[in-house]
Amino acid sequence: MTKNDLMEKVQSLAKQRGFVFQSSEIYGGMSAVYDFGPYGVELANAIKKEWWKSYVQEREDVVGLDAAIFMDPKVWEASGHVSGFADPLIECKKCHSRLRVDHLLEDIGVKADEKMTEAEINSVFEKNKDKLACPVCKSKNFTDIKKFNLLVKSNLGNFTNDLEKDPVFLRGETCQGIYVNFKNVLDSVRVRVPFGIAQIGKAFRNEITARQYIFRTREFEQMEMQYFVRPDDAKKTFKEFKEIRWQFYLNLGIKEANLRWQKHDKLVFYAKEAFDIEYKYPFGFKELEGIHNRGDYDLSQHMRASGVDLNYTDPTTGDKYIPNIIETSAGVGRTFLAVLCDAYYEEKIGEETRIVLKLKKNLSPIKVAVFPLVKNKPELTRKAHLIFNDLKSQFMCEFDDNGNIGKRYRRQDEIGTPYCVTIDYDTLENDTVTVRDRDTMKQERIKTTELASWVTKNLEK
Ligand code: GAP
Repeated sequence: MTKNDLMEKVQSLAKQRGFVFQSSEIYGGMSAVYDFGPYGVELANAIKKEWWKSYVQEREDVVGLDAAIFMDPKVWEASGHVSGFADPLIECKKCHSRLRVDHLLEDIGVKADEKMTEAEINSVFEKNKDKLACPVCKSKNFTDIKKFNLLVKSNLGNFTNDLEKDPVFLRGETCQGIYVNFKNVLDSVRVRVPFGIAQIGKAFRNEITARQYIFRTREFEQMEMQYFVRPDDAKKTFKEFKEIRWQFYLNLGIKEANLRWQKHDKLVFYAKEAFDIEYKYPFGFKELEGIHNRGDYDLSQHMRASGVDLNYTDPTTGDKYIPNIIETSAGVGRTFLAVLCDAYYEEKIGEETRIVLKLKKNLSPIKVAVFPLVKNKPELTRKAHLIFNDLKSQFMCEFDDNGNIGKRYRRQDEIGTPYCVTIDYDTLENDTVTVRDRDTMKQERIKTTELASWVTKNLEK
């Protein structure tokens, strides 16, 4: 399977099997915005649950937060986003497509990234201008580079028709909600530095180019954890979180060979040290998560702009300092895509090709599918419904009596269901069912009275 094939296949499976739909598709589809379908929302929720568990549930030094998407616009001035959160944009003079210069350069193999200064990107652009062509109309005639701010504006609280008047931004990253609540959390729950605040939520960026499916979208979800430490401990803690985050992806079942580290030589305005975990997507190794040592940048900026003292006083030593922040910042959509690509397999079975999503069982949207062998035998369907009703309070289950049993197995393989339970004529005789394993395709007979505990035990394996 070539890389392009894999991308197309994953995308088509995700559409056909109800994982991902383009937003507003019946109106032609909205660019760079996607919806999660019935199985997609289960997978996304399972990823979020694992992330939350690894931080908020399993660590005593991390607490959760759910800040609002709307924040005082002063937050985005203090954070540097109003002045500095911009991508380099050019316009094709012929077809007027707006294009990201760093992406165009990347496409012809010239190293350029969003972290470059304006002068640096200008110089690389000038040197390579004659090699660049508009991907839409192939013209080589471009405007000069303009920096385009990525913050998305709204008219919240503005009752005039002037959308530019005092815009309230949709948050461009979730972590700002954590910084402005640092003092609230410290004053209200029993935490002491070092401690972390974790949050999962939507973020919005007016990305110039819509590329690579759900990899880069204008509305997306982040899973961010900000860990507040003594300045002296920042370097050590940064290292520890690098390890922790690498292990997180292995625990999701991602193959280690498909992950790599990327150190940032060029740092964004807030960072002192930054590494990305990259995943080998079908279109190449790309950022899955960023791990940043943000120093005291964020709390200092908000302290200056708000006038509120955000110093921390150590209750034991009396030392007073602005905590440094180690950030781990992951995207739900990018993790979702990495998990799907990693789990996608095609296997030859005789003349047939079986598509199977070998998802870790804790990520599978459906844990157990229940089938009566045939649809038109009331004794079988009645018994199958009884078993389904019994299991569904404990596991995400699906009942299916449509078509032949082989097709029903294939459908469940394609959505990654670990176990399919079939109720057949023997069930009526001896109260046993067959349980078929997604990966080995082997079938076992299990007593119906032991089925729920068998599933519980095997889902944990
Ligand atoms: N608070 C730091 C921050 O937001 P970032 O590198 O801009 O850092 C962190 O974003 C993560 O958020 C990325 O690694 C990626 O997983 C996700 N992300 C960022 N922009 C995205 C986009 N347009 N679409 C999907 N995910 C995105």
